[in-house]
Amino acid sequence: MTLFGKRLALPLLLGPTGLAGLFWPDGEGCLARAAGQTGTGFCLSHGSVAPLEKVAACGTSPRWMQVFIYKDRAFTRELAERAAKAGYDALVLTIDNQLLGNRERDIRNGFSIPPRFDAAGIAGMALKAEWLWRMRGEIRRITFGNYVRPGETADLRTLAGRMGSLLDPAMSWRDVDELRAIWKGPLLLKGVLHPDEARLALDHGVDGLIVSNHGGRQLDGAPATIDVLPHIVAAVGDRLPVLIDGGIRRGSDVVKALALGAQACLVGRPVLWGLAVAGEAGVAHMLEIYKREIDRVMGLCGAARIADINRDLLFAKASRSG
Ligand SMILES: Cc1cc2nc3c(=O)[nH]c(=O)nc-3n(C[C@H](O)[C@H](O)[C@H](O)COP(=O)(O)O)c2cc1C
Repeated sequence: MTLFGKRLALPLLLGPTGLAGLFWPDGEGCLARAAGQTGTGFCLSHGSVAPLEKVAACGTSPRWMQVFIYKDRAFTRELAERAAKAGYDALVLTIDNQLLGNRERDIRNGFSIPPRFDAAGIAGMALKAEWLWRMRGEIRRITFGNYVRPGETADLRTLAGRMGSLLDPAMSWRDVDELRAIWKGPLLLKGVLHPDEARLALDHGVDGLIVSNHGGRQLDGAPATIDVLPHIVAAVGDRLPVLIDGGIRRGSDVVKALALGAQACLVGRPVLWGLAVAGEAGVAHMLEIYKREIDRVMGLCGAARIADINRDLLFAKASRSG
């Protein structure tokens, strides 16, 4: 199949996840190479440990870059320009994270960026001896690579403190227009959940939508993306590709999403699970499992090609009336 003019071996891409380099040495390089090896694309997070230029040097494609709208609009522009210069194929503007959700699990687990080196934090790390040993040379270098300015400290503590205040909760469609004006390649919005938003995106010259609720990490009670998907597809028709993420855990989930009108899916957490287990090989293996499952499910449904997947494959239970 092709997406934005690039061939993909499967309708599944690696979605953006921050600090992948915390899971495995050169984590983002592992993601890029695993995607390349499998013949699919990956989207680099704004919050990668390695700077976007270093990841681009892996040479794999398609590679997409995810950005936010910052209070300092010049920084948003700068990231987009750096991504263009480094040969990223598409820009993904995430719109559902301008304000951080109340992540209670993070609070319960004592998770914070930068990590807290209190007794519980140290004990937690000590229990992950394999990870600690593997990362022994890296931990001091963990940072938000794209945010390090020339001559400034790369220290994670300083950057993380600054980052919280960088995003602008007052972003608007004008920002999408401005980004549209400077980014010449495909521009996608990630975090679309309402058909009206999808229609507006069309009006503002966006090239693709990612139906996402940020993996349920932002607004408790946000609808499931698979439920919203058909409404978004109905709103934009075939005028622009609609992608989806959130709970895509099996090849059958991919096939169902395609049957409901998605062009492709993205995965977030499974990428990090694969990375944490075996680095590049783990991510490649994870993609291979999806690929096998997609092939098998398509076969069982009698769909020989991706183009054969349509709504007829789904069985809708008759709704009870009266
Ligand atoms: C640890 C973690 C970090 C993430 N970082 C980002 C990020 O930097 N940018 C972004 O747009 N989405 C980020 N996401 C959201 C994912 O891209 C994706 O929308 C979400 O995880 C849903 O997919 P999943 O159910 O396959 O995990 C992150 C998700 C996780 C779990």
